[in-house]
Amino acid sequence: MLDASAAAPDNPPVSWLYKTFVRPNFFNRDPEEAHNLVIGQLAWAARRRWALGLAGCFLRGPKLPVELFGLKFPNPVGLAAGMDKGGTAVPVWAALGLGFSELGGVTQRGQPGNPQPRMFRVVEDEALINRMGFNNPGADAMAGRLRDWHDSGAWPSHPVGVNLGKSKVTPLADAPADYRYSFELLKNLADFFVVNVSSPNTPNLRQLQDKSALAEILAALQEANDDNRPILVKVAPDLGFDALDEILELVEPHNLAGIVATNTTIARPAESGLYAETGGLSGRPLARRSTEVIRHLYRQSGGRVPLIGVGGIFDAADAWEKITAGASLLQIYSGMVYEGPQITRAILKGLAKRLAREGFTELREAVGTEK
Ligand SMILES: Cc1cc2nc3c(=O)[nH]c(=O)nc-3n(C[C@H](O)[C@H](O)[C@H](O)COP(=O)(O)O)c2cc1C
Repeated sequence: MLDASAAAPDNPPVSWLYKTFVRPNFFNRDPEEAHNLVIGQLAWAARRRWALGLAGCFLRGPKLPVELFGLKFPNPVGLAAGMDKGGTAVPVWAALGLGFSELGGVTQRGQPGNPQPRMFRVVEDEALINRMGFNNPGADAMAGRLRDWHDSGAWPSHPVGVNLGKSKVTPLADAPADYRYSFELLKNLADFFVVNVSSPNTPNLRQLQDKSALAEILAALQEANDDNRPILVKVAPDLGFDALDEILELVEPHNLAGIVATNTTIARPAESGLYAETGGLSGRPLARRSTEVIRHLYRQSGGRVPLIGVGGIFDAADAWEKITAGASLLQIYSGMVYEGPQITRAILKGLAKRLAREGFTELREAVGTEK
């Protein structure tokens, strides 16, 4: 049911404060330095109940509950993978009003990622390019951190997922064991798992989207999945529809809970300037292609496969487009960087209004209506 607080006044001062004072300060810095600064501050806030409570007062939006693959989401707008790669700020994402969070990518072995600079802002197009290369502390360290958050009593009330990647040093042929190692360590510490075979920044990783390679990874994970945790696959926007159809064919035999569409793209709207940097492009220029992928997956599966839509969501109109194309849940990364932390609340308020206008009482009624 829709929440009455959807009718509460908007919160423009937070947006104005962010764009006037906070964003220019961050955007004057190297993107990765700014990212680390923000994550450091959020990790500090994550350990203080009063800070979490305060954030919640300003940033929590209307409730828009979604139930999917056995989990209860307070709202459909989640944190995309890559923002909290090391699980250092776990309780903060719920306090910022997000309906779920996806931590990582995590790999079996800790690794430094690619040489810097490896993150770029194309400000005029509200885009990011990154070639981080799965810099992360490794599955063992991640498990320790998640255990600490559970023990601290600060574990968030929204569903938490973990994005699983492959260690750079692991040959493709040994990928199933690498994914399985991380999954076995983390499976009792999070609510759902996303098999990331779509990052453009680990050499040849995307070859694992090939049907038989992916089937081997999924078989290895499901063999270890005694508690039946939801396992999803995240796909690249650069896959053709045929390749997407092959991935859909794996859903039933491998008990996949859903598909996350999409990761960043290697395609570019132009070749000059920062667009010449290699890596994955996210933000506004990705929005159209990721929606196309969602629409195709929804149509092709007859709406039977749950989809998490991600790619260039900045406001409620973008979110509505993804939902009506077939996404049951959404995720944001670049939008958070450009719009600030009040983006979730703004999207939720807009969605609540739109649902009411269309005569829907629950979000799921809107899913796939424009397929
Ligand atoms: C700096 C950065 C790091 C990312 N790291 C990961 C990652 O580790 N695993 C993953 O599946 N996606 C990763 N992503 C992709 C995002 O989760 C998301 O799919 C993509 O950015 C599109 O969403 P957006 O347009 O809202 O940013 C990363 C994105 C960025 C910008």
